[in-house]
Amino acid sequence: MIMELLRYCFLQIFLALAISFLVNAQDQSGFVSIDCGNSKDSSYTDSVTGIKYISDANFTETGVSKSISSDFNTTTLPQQFWYVRSFPEGERNCYTIKLAQGKGFKYLIRASFMYGNYDGEGKPPVFDLYMGINKWDSVVLSNESSIITKEVIHALPTSSVCVCLVTTGFGSPFISALEFRLLKNASYVTDSKLLALHRRLDVGSITNETVRYRDDFCDRIWLPFNFLNYKIISTSSTVDSGISNSYNLPRIVMSTAITTDNASAPLEFHWVPEDPSAKYHIFLHFADLQKLQMNQSREFNIYQNEEYFNGPFSPDYLQSTTLFSTKPMSGETIAFKFVKTNTSNLPPILNALEVYRVLETSESRTDEQDVKAMTNVKSFYGMRKNWQGDPCLPESFVWHGLSCSYDETPNRITSLNLSSSGLVGEIATSISELTSLQYLDLSNNNLSGPVPSLLSELHSLKVLDLRNNPHLGSIPSELMEKSKNGSLTIRVGGNADLCASSSCQKKKKSYVIPIVASVSSLLVLVAAIAVGIIIWRKRARKQPDVRITSLEPKKHQLSYSQIQHMTNNFETKIGEGGFAKVFLGYLDNTQVAVKVLKASVQGYKEFEAEVKLLLRIHHTNLTSLVGFCCENTNLVLIYEYINNGNLKEHLSGGNVRVLSWEERMQIAVDAAQGLEYLHHGCKPPIVHRDVKSANILLNENFEAKIADFGLSKSFPTESRSHLTTVVAGTEGYLDPEYYATGWLTEKSDVYSFGVLILEIITSLPVLQIDRASSERHHISQWVRDLMNTGDIESIVDQRLRGNFDLSSAWKAVEIAMTCLSMDSTERPDMKEVVRELSECLGLERARKRRNVDFDIGKSNTITRDFRESEVTPRSR
Ligand SMILES: *[C@@H]1O[C@H](CO)[C@@H](O)[C@H](O)[C@H]1NC(C)=O
Ligand SMILES: *[C@@H]1O[C@H](CO)[C@@H](O)[C@H](O)[C@H]1NC(C)=O
Ligand SMILES: *[C@@H]1O[C@H](CO)[C@@H](O)[C@H](O)[C@H]1NC(C)=O
Ligand SMILES: *[C@@H]1O[C@H](CO)[C@@H](O)[C@H](O)[C@H]1NC(C)=O
Ligand SMILES: *[C@@H]1O[C@H](CO)[C@@H](O)[C@H](O)[C@H]1NC(C)=O
Ligand SMILES: *[C@@H]1O[C@H](CO)[C@@H](O)[C@H](O)[C@H]1NC(C)=O
Ligand SMILES: *[C@@H]1O[C@H](CO)[C@@H](O)[C@H](O)[C@H]1NC(C)=O
Ligand SMILES: *[C@@H]1O[C@H](CO)[C@@H](O)[C@H](O)[C@H]1NC(C)=O
Ligand SMILES: *[C@@H]1O[C@H](CO)[C@@H](O)[C@H](O)[C@H]1NC(C)=O
Ligand SMILES: *[C@@H]1O[C@H](CO)[C@@H](O)[C@H](O)[C@H]1NC(C)=O
Repeated sequence: MIMELLRYCFLQIFLALAISFLVNAQDQSGFVSIDCGNSKDSSYTDSVTGIKYISDANFTETGVSKSISSDFNTTTLPQQFWYVRSFPEGERNCYTIKLAQGKGFKYLIRASFMYGNYDGEGKPPVFDLYMGINKWDSVVLSNESSIITKEVIHALPTSSVCVCLVTTGFGSPFISALEFRLLKNASYVTDSKLLALHRRLDVGSITNETVRYRDDFCDRIWLPFNFLNYKIISTSSTVDSGISNSYNLPRIVMSTAITTDNASAPLEFHWVPEDPSAKYHIFLHFADLQKLQMNQSREFNIYQNEEYFNGPFSPDYLQSTTLFSTKPMSGETIAFKFVKTNTSNLPPILNALEVYRVLETSESRTDEQDVKAMTNVKSFYGMRKNWQGDPCLPESFVWHGLSCSYDETPNRITSLNLSSSGLVGEIATSISELTSLQYLDLSNNNLSGPVPSLLSELHSLKVLDLRNNPHLGSIPSELMEKSKNGSLTIRVGGNADLCASSSCQKKKKSYVIPIVASVSSLLVLVAAIAVGIIIWRKRARKQPDVRITSLEPKKHQLSYSQIQHMTNNFETKIGEGGFAKVFLGYLDNTQVAVKVLKASVQGYKEFEAEVKLLLRIHHTNLTSLVGFCCENTNLVLIYEYINNGNLKEHLSGGNVRVLSWEERMQIAVDAAQGLEYLHHGCKPPIVHRDVKSANILLNENFEAKIADFGLSKSFPTESRSHLTTVVAGTEGYLDPEYYATGWLTEKSDVYSFGVLILEIITSLPVLQIDRASSERHHISQWVRDLMNTGDIESIVDQRLRGNFDLSSAWKAVEIAMTCLSMDSTERPDMKEVVRELSECLGLERARKRRNVDFDIGKSNTITRDFRESEVTPRSR
């Protein structure tokens, strides 16, 4: 979802990418170089390597961007290490990268880490790195400035790669960079699917410098290495990596070698594996650097732990050859010995050397269609949860709400529980592609529309739980058949609209029996009806007469003398705007807000038309119009009275009670829903035209209701845009496109809503005036600047003291920024905004739930922390 929202930013990346590819298409076409944590619209070329890096925003959905402490930002530190992406939430977080050359292609994949005290804790975390479902390595950094790189060579089994970071209980995982380098298919061919780099050495280096891209077209990193006691030989001639050699070895690495002084002495080296059972593959690279005379010969045999490995072998002059074994080796010590043959009069040589460790790969895999279907469901609902990587594997990280069957290969998804997941919109049809599904729980959401008949294609489905989705439409006959013949249990209850559709009503009677409403759901239903009746009764007593008899429009219309009476002759003024004064009034003992318009604002006809429209609009997040008066030049609107002030007052510094992050997100969701209703629930759609914090009213439960439809203009649906003569709205909230063109669409409200979200996040005024230059700065500029530094905590209202979910905050900022896209077509519609903001709310609630456990743990450890008493001396 967020991907869609961020289209605009990505467009910029792609433009940058497109340009960079033009410049150097040949060299980096097989590269994907990701600078993790870098802001999403910046890409750059590394000044030393010339490699183009892009941001990671497109490849991961979670985590927060952080910059390292300036203490560790040395002049020689590559730019990739300036920022990291940190994952404070969730046990497993993944990057998913779809590569242009995917399935079956071989890649070198490199992850780099430098802690740089980015979190101010002064202690590098310890965590695990996974390649898809297989453990790759543990990341253990010795100090703040140490840099670790982990590399694998991997022939991709699927078109996309998943790299995951997994917590081990020692701090939040993070990552600095992630790089992909396409290798030739014929290089590094072994029996093992996943090879982790152990050593890659440029032996006999005379420069003592690390070699990588541009010297190495595949951007392998070669470390200089010199054995004591061996002689270095080198050439200034060019070493050809050879047509038959697919390794594309860098010339500078191959143009130096080691050899023995004494031709009869063997050339030897060895290493001691940490784990004697670890399996290794070795790749030995040779090229002779000496032009041999007729009477000279260089020929040697290679032994591994005294056993024959390869030979007799004579390296070609200035041509690279690679020797390796396809079978892995292991042992307490792994020793290599090159011994010249009796007929040879020159000593053995070695130019370069690579050692890889075999990573165990799990044979189990999940059905590709199931994976695809779940990925679609995930993006359809914009689900976060822990839904990352493979849905069923590893078994310890199965996606929440899923059950899988591991009896068959590939694994299948057998149960999907999306109960209470805050789902809105229709039922995702992709669910019908989970063909082994037996149990499907969609209860306690806000799903709407008909139940897709495709679900009847799930032949194993035994239980379908649809309870408590008040707006769900009809159940298709195919499913009803299954329910009737007993092969499927459909649970319903709390589905007010379920039988509202015509097809449903026609056959209503035959449906009553087969739908199995469990006893508990029936009870819930009965209880709900009872509560409903009680509430309805209460309301009926409390509410003013006009609302109940809403079928008779005349009753809404009051005379001016009635208005005078109900306001006690305009005794209590509760507000005043450019167009109207607002007074407190009483209608049948209920408080109402009486808005007296300054007469010249609208023509009488227009006024009446608009009022009729407004009287039809009822939504919990909109202030209801309950009546009006239209006598001579007196134009009066009567609204329900919302008693807890407006959002602007609650956000402003003067208010003692600081709104919590959860409250803010709830208010944002409420307001978004109100606006969504105006845009998508009303026919014709209504553009508010003056969305701002002062127009968001709060009731005693801090539920938000949008007010002031005074500027609303209904406009025809056939032409989505409408040219208005006067551009109206409030400065700072005004859509610049609307301002420039005069064309008004719903997207103008979306822009204003973006500004509103920023207000909610920051509690700052929309326009700030620089005292020195008296220039005015818009809140969005300020936020954008801070976003680039990755510092979310200084964006959010400081009074919250960091007490909020970071990803929730990031997401909220991102939503706001997409709403603020200059081009209105880039802005999301309010449906999307509602969905995204609901996720922000969900993330914050999830954090709060977690924190309950966390706080308990924390209080237990406080007694062991003696420092506290040292720093707080008691006053006597
Ligand atoms: C980035 O995301 C967009 C969709 O939002 C996708 O089309 C594009 O392929 C992605 N870019 C890369 C490099 O994966
Ligand atoms: C690191 O230093 C460079 C200048 O040498 C500066 O441009 C960059 O912003 C610094 N990065 C961080 C994260 O502090
Ligand atoms: C790479 O080689 C393997 C066999 O070694 C083959 O199965 C695979 O299809 C090849 N991939 C490509 C992209 O050529
Ligand atoms: C950090 O650790 C590395 C080894 O990983 C070491 O070479 C380096 O000197 C250490 N730096 C500091 C500042 O301790
Ligand atoms: C490289 O290191 C070797 C010893 O390891 C040293 O003898 C040689 O001078 C160094 N070369 C350069 C160019 O620094
Ligand atoms: C050369 O090496 C062989 C075998 O290790 C040894 O027997 C011989 O003494 C060595 N010669 C010299 C001059 O060191
Ligand atoms: C090889 O032949 C050259 C002359 O072409 C001679 O100088 C050299 O000693 C010979 N080397 C050996 C090992 O016989
Ligand atoms: C090479 O010489 C060694 C002794 O120096 C001998 O044991 C071996 O059999 C010889 N090999 C060949 C192939 O002549
Ligand atoms: C489905 O999820 C809901 C909410 O997470 C939970 O209450 C319910 O027990 C789950 N159902 C099953 C069968 O696990
Ligand atoms: C549920 O969905 C309906 C329409 O699909 C919408 O009118 C209503 O506001 C939604 N309610 C919540 C709580 O999301």
